Amino acid sequence: MNKNNNINEFSKKGYCVVDIDKKYIKELEKLNLSILNNITKKIGKNNYELSDFHKLKLSDIELNNFRLETIKLINSKKNLRRIIYDSLGGFLDKCLGPDVVVQKNINLVIQSPKDKNRSPFHKDAPMASNYELVVWLPLVDCVKTMSMYLFDLKHHNQAKKLIMKNTSEKKFKDFSKKNGKLLNVKFGQAMIFWTNNFHYIPVNEEKRTRWSLNLRYKNLFTKYGTKNLLDYYDILKLSPITELLNKIDV
Ligand SMILES: [Fe+2]
Repeated sequence: MNKNNNINEFSKKGYCVVDIDKKYIKELEKLNLSILNNITKKIGKNNYELSDFHKLKLSDIELNNFRLETIKLINSKKNLRRIIYDSLGGFLDKCLGPDVVVQKNINLVIQSPKDKNRSPFHKDAPMASNYELVVWLPLVDCVKTMSMYLFDLKHHNQAKKLIMKNTSEKKFKDFSKKNGKLLNVKFGQAMIFWTNNFHYIPVNEEKRTRWSLNLRYKNLFTKYGTKNLLDYYDILKLSPITELLNKIDV
């Protein structure tokens, strides 16, 4: 799908799947390789795929420690947030404009098959800014229940009512199956969604571990949520006029 079609779809629904620009795929492959090397180093196992990670049968504590270490590794790659931004072929530029901030740390989710630990049905705003976009980037092919349900804006009010009722997990699951879209997002693609889009993460019923990164971008000058500029974001890029303003006292 080309970039303009993506923008049209995004404008209607608040989410879309974007292909990563081919020249950046190598960077993602390098990232996967360094995570795999780290697994080999720490756990001593070799020659397998990230999606087979659950076969190592780590305890919850081991898994959490490993996840934290891997987050450190990912965030040590200082230009990765810029690479991810650029890899989306101008999509974020079109949505956000020339002055952009990015969250300081990239998050990583490792979701093993049948693992019930996951975020509940929710949307990120107003905790996150209303002017922010989430980039959900899988490190392995995420098909069927390895992906997540997103809701068109036409279901927004229904979803809001459901949240108010504080209803059962089964009701959220049924609502998601009926009204949500479970889009396949393969390695080499990213799902981009607005912080006001509800989403629901199903239990991973496939036989492979889901690995996905998520991070958020917004325009520097738009309203913030509960997280302020200095604590939560770094400046990613500035427009020429903002650069000029940084040079003098006006
Ligand atoms: Fe979320």
